[in-house]
Amino acid sequence: MEIIKNREELSSAPVGVFDSGVGGLTVAREIMRQIPNEKIVYFGDTARVPYGSKSKETVTKYSKQIVRFLQEQHVKAIVAACNTASAYALDEVEKELDIPMIGVVKPGAKVAVETTQNGRIGVIGTEGTIGSHIYSTYINEMSRNTKVLEKACPLFVPLVEEGLWQDPVTDEIAKRYLSALIDSGIDTLILGCTHYPLIRSTVGKIVGEGVTLVNPAYETARELKGLLEKEGLLNKSEQGLGSNQYRFYVSDMADKFRTFANSILKYGILSAKTINIENY
Ligand code: DGL
Repeated sequence: MEIIKNREELSSAPVGVFDSGVGGLTVAREIMRQIPNEKIVYFGDTARVPYGSKSKETVTKYSKQIVRFLQEQHVKAIVAACNTASAYALDEVEKELDIPMIGVVKPGAKVAVETTQNGRIGVIGTEGTIGSHIYSTYINEMSRNTKVLEKACPLFVPLVEEGLWQDPVTDEIAKRYLSALIDSGIDTLILGCTHYPLIRSTVGKIVGEGVTLVNPAYETARELKGLLEKEGLLNKSEQGLGSNQYRFYVSDMADKFRTFANSILKYGILSAKTINIENY
């Protein structure tokens, strides 16, 4: 009886979502859409972004600090809403946790395998994600004969953060990055970085209609919903809280974060609180 009561109490706790900065908001946005009753505590590591060009050791250390902070917020589950953190740190961090944790890579890899018809999947991401070969590892575990072609696109993150979502400069760079993938005959392309869904239309235009784009943010929200259902942790009790159910924390530049967040989220963010993540 006691356990059931605790589970009910736990189900009304927030989900912790973290990223190196603003990119994970594309994942938070999908969670807000697909499971609107859930509360979210979001942490963006805006003082230490980018993670994509840092080492595995550094990204793992940062991820552990963030997870400690989120646990202090009494979250019931954690989403590593960052491809680089999912690639480098997820396995090690989740070992230390007694609550469920998921990343964005596995859900994206799974749906790409389900989507491809010709067994040729492209993956684009940061240098860290692509260098780790995490997507090809997961894809080949599920489907040994699938060919995975990977390409790091480091300039996409700053272009997105500069707001150049639809711009000739972004078109030109996308053509250069994507030409080898197009020539190799992929029919599916994973947007393996949190920022890339925001330039989805540019990428789609360059690769053409014959290539299906996979957005791991969407799949991750779906997987989170399934996981919470399975664990009896879906929040059924509270509805219609709107923006009050979301709390945002950053490690620096709170105003800039807020402006970016308000450009992509449905709910206006009134404040993002700055914390010193080095204390964790
Ligand atoms: N959030 C990161 C990712 O998805 C991109 C930004 C960064 O390099 O930190 O890999």
